[in-house]
Amino acid sequence: MHTVTERSALLSSRLKTETASLHELMHALMEKGQPFANRDNYARFVAAQYHFQRDIEHLFSDPAIQAAVPDLDVRGRETASLADLADLGFDAGQEAVATAGVSIPGALGWLYVSEGSTLGAAFLLKEAKATLGLSETFGARNLAAYPEGRAVVWRRFVGFLDQPSLKEEDHDAVVAGAADAYARFGSLLKRYFGLV
Ligand code: HEM
Repeated sequence: MHTVTERSALLSSRLKTETASLHELMHALMEKGQPFANRDNYARFVAAQYHFQRDIEHLFSDPAIQAAVPDLDVRGRETASLADLADLGFDAGQEAVATAGVSIPGALGWLYVSEGSTLGAAFLLKEAKATLGLSETFGARNLAAYPEGRAVVWRRFVGFLDQPSLKEEDHDAVVAGAADAYARFGSLLKRYFGLV
């Protein structure tokens, strides 16, 4: 008998495995930024979230992304983040959209990072409620679950990622897009938390 080492063919598994260290980096930045220490720190997190969500929703107008992810109308938290900033009285300032030159397949990696972050957001929402007195209707809309529920909307997204129609030779570009998205969110967090 011989052992066959097979690379996972599932794009969702590759994304999770190959970006795990970048996800860890987000934890580290959140640890440094202390977004739940007070509302000002938290508002800085929301400003980063807002600009990242603008990057993400910029991708929504591309017909190729619409075809790959046909339920975009239920996704995205740009409006929610902007409303939170208004609740918190925080001006996020101007930022150029970072995804101007991004298209499929890399764009799917960006969406992966944004959609995946809705899972961790459940924990952040709990903290925002407990420590800052915020809610899904005031200040923490950007962390709220989509109306259908986090797990349902996430699993449907994973289903789109793992469609056989998404060619395996494009998978590397999706993973690279996810790495770019993590890098963008990381640089926004650093800047808005004042860590640079
Ligand atoms: C301290 C802050 C964060 C915490 C506590 C956290 C926690 C989590 C948790 C518990 C999961 C679910 C894992 C699972 O069910 O398998 C998750 C998934 C994920 N998070 Fe975070 N997260 C945080 C920040 C972020 C940020 C800032 C981003 C990106 C902007 C992000 C992107 C993702 C992605 C892409 C996934 C999906 C992983 C996968 O299953 O492929 N997270 N996170």
